[in-house]
Amino acid sequence: MQKIETSHLTIGGYFGLELPPGSEYYTHLIRLNTGRNALEYILREKGYKKIYIPYFTCDVLLEPIQKLNIPYQFYSIDDHLEPIIDFEIEPDAVFLYTNYFGIKQHAVKCLSTKITNLIIDNSQAFFSEPLPGIDTFYSCRKFFGVADGAYLQIKKKSTKKYAVDSSVNRFSHLIKNIDLGVQQGYSDYVKNNKDLENNPIRIMSPLTRKILAGVNYAECARIRKRNFNFLHKHLKEYNLFKFNFPEEYSPMVYPFLSNNKQLKLHLIQHNIYVATYWPNVFKWTDTRMYENYLARCIVPLPIDHRYSLHDMLYILNTLRTFL
Ligand SMILES: Cc1ncc(COP(=O)(O)O)c(C=O)c1O
Repeated sequence: MQKIETSHLTIGGYFGLELPPGSEYYTHLIRLNTGRNALEYILREKGYKKIYIPYFTCDVLLEPIQKLNIPYQFYSIDDHLEPIIDFEIEPDAVFLYTNYFGIKQHAVKCLSTKITNLIIDNSQAFFSEPLPGIDTFYSCRKFFGVADGAYLQIKKKSTKKYAVDSSVNRFSHLIKNIDLGVQQGYSDYVKNNKDLENNPIRIMSPLTRKILAGVNYAECARIRKRNFNFLHKHLKEYNLFKFNFPEEYSPMVYPFLSNNKQLKLHLIQHNIYVATYWPNVFKWTDTRMYENYLARCIVPLPIDHRYSLHDMLYILNTLRTFL
C-alpha cells in the first residue's frame, strides 16, 4: 500500500479563504518575497563589484545595492527607452535593464546578445518569458491582487536555506478593496507597501503562492493585450512616445506621453488612477534630462484584466478633450 505523508495534515476544523485551485505561471522559477530581494539574491550569488542602473527606475532597487555596499552608476535611456551605453562595462560589473511597461522584450533580446553580465528587471513585464541563461526577476503585485511575491530565474542557485515569508499582516488593502472599495483600502495599501521595505530575502509566502496559483493567466494576458491594442489604435497618433508594438505582448499599462500638464490631474478627477513612474526620478535627475521629462509626462493608462472595452472607451472619452 502507498504510504501517505500525514505529518502536517489536519482534518476538519474551520475553512481557509476559498481560492480556486490551479497552477502558477512560472513553476520552474525561484519563488521569493519581493523583486528587490530577488535582485539581492542575484547580487549575492554572482558577487558583482559594481552595478549600472537606469535613472528611470524605482528607488527601492537601491535597497539591496546599498545593503551589500556595491558601488552603482546611473545610465541614461533614449526616446525608445533603450540604454545609451557610451561607457565600458567592467568585467566584474553588471548591467540592469528594465523591460519598461512590458513592451521592451525586443530590446531585452538585443542586450542579451551584447552584454555579458546582464540582469533583466521584468517587474513591469510579467508575461515576458525569461531568456535562457539571463538572470531575470519579476514582481507579482504589479500585475495581480497579491501583497508581495517575486519570481527569479538564475542559474547559480543559493545553497542557503531562506525562511518562508508571511503576508498576513500586509494583506488588508486587498480585502478592503473588495469589501469597502478602492479608496477605503488606500491608506492600508500605502502602509503595506512600506512594510515591504528593508526585509531580508525570504521564500514567497504560502498565501501569495496560493493566490497566484488561482489566477487565470490566459485570460489575464488576453484582456491586457486586447485593451492595450484598443488604446494604441486610438491614441498612437496623439502619443508622443512612438513605439512599434508587437501585438502578442501583454503589457502592464499603456504609456501615453503627453506634454499637457493638466492631463494626469484631469484623469484622477474622473476616477482614472494613473501612477507616476517614479517620483524618485525627480531627485536623481534635473529638468533637462529625458528621464525627468518621462517621469513628468508619461501617463500610464490602466489596461489590466479588471477592465472591459467599455472601460477603455471611458478612458478615451475622458482623454478626448486633451487630444
Ligand atoms: C521597475 C521596478 N523594479 C522593481 C521593483 C521592486 O519590486 P518589489 O516591490 O516587489 O520589491 C519595482 C517596484 O517596487 C519597480 O517599479
